[in-house]
Amino acid sequence: MTEGPFSLAGKVALVTGGNAGIGRALALALRQAGAKVAVGARRPDRNAEVLAELGADGAAFELDVTDEAGIERAVQGVVARWGRLDILVNNAGTVNRKSVMELERAAWDHVMNTNLTGPFLCTKHAARIMKSQGSGKIINIASIYGLVAPSKGLQVPYSVSKAGVIALTRVNAVELAAHGIQVNAIAPGYYFTEMTAELSGTPLEQTLKRRTPSGRLGETVDLTGTCVYLASRASDHVTGVCIPVDGGYVVSDGLERG
Ligand SMILES: NC(=O)c1ccc[n+]([C@@H]2O[C@H](COP(=O)([O-])OP(=O)(O)OC[C@H]3O[C@@H](n4cnc5c(N)ncnc54)[C@H](OP(=O)(O)O)[C@@H]3O)[C@@H](O)[C@H]2O)c1
Repeated sequence: MTEGPFSLAGKVALVTGGNAGIGRALALALRQAGAKVAVGARRPDRNAEVLAELGADGAAFELDVTDEAGIERAVQGVVARWGRLDILVNNAGTVNRKSVMELERAAWDHVMNTNLTGPFLCTKHAARIMKSQGSGKIINIASIYGLVAPSKGLQVPYSVSKAGVIALTRVNAVELAAHGIQVNAIAPGYYFTEMTAELSGTPLEQTLKRRTPSGRLGETVDLTGTCVYLASRASDHVTGVCIPVDGGYVVSDGLERG
């Protein structure tokens, strides 16, 4: 795509956690819409695989979003390569499904550091570049569990971190609006990726399908249009919002009526 309101031609994007699952799909979609795309994640082999898919206008950085110095290096690496940074997708994430009564402090810290502190730190360094350009798009990957709780609890730091990501979206949208930077969030429902693979084929999969008005789980392609929209000039007057892409999950009361 080279023209029109959704075109990303001439734009430069960084997708954290872009080497697998949702992040990989978003990175490839941004590339398809015309952006030059860098992915940043920890596993070098997976980074290399996505780099091969992105082609000549792609880049991959070994990045741990809990490490501020590494984030600075990745952001500077993108700018050194392409001279700018227009789009940041804060996608890297992890989960822990232990009971609140069993959860160790270190496990809580790890999820919070990855899912909430990571997006804060990436925003901090990317927004400095975007401010100097007078424009930018920050897209935070939240979750429906930032909006509602899982039915039996258990995803404690995950849910808290994702609610935090939605608040981070709002507060940064307000501050950064004056610099031409829009900050928005996407709240995916359930998607089968490495993060959720253990649920595949379990009774919960059928329950999820019944609970979701669309009658199915999401496929990563379901998220790509919303991401490209939020990365493009089509969304220049949209900021601080969180868009669920969940087949209607959060707007339904979920009751099974006969
Ligand atoms: N799948 C779902 O149903 C679902 C639903 C709602 C929201 N989400 C959110 O969508 C995002 C992507 O999830 P996914 O399902 O695609 O998960 P995934 O398949 O497990 O992929 C997670 C990605 O994050 C990277 N990552 C993890 N920790 C990192 C760190 N400290 N620094 C840098 N990269 C890191 C991983 O790469 P490395 O291991 O190589 O670093 C991988 O690329 C997450 O924020 C997740 O919470 C997912």
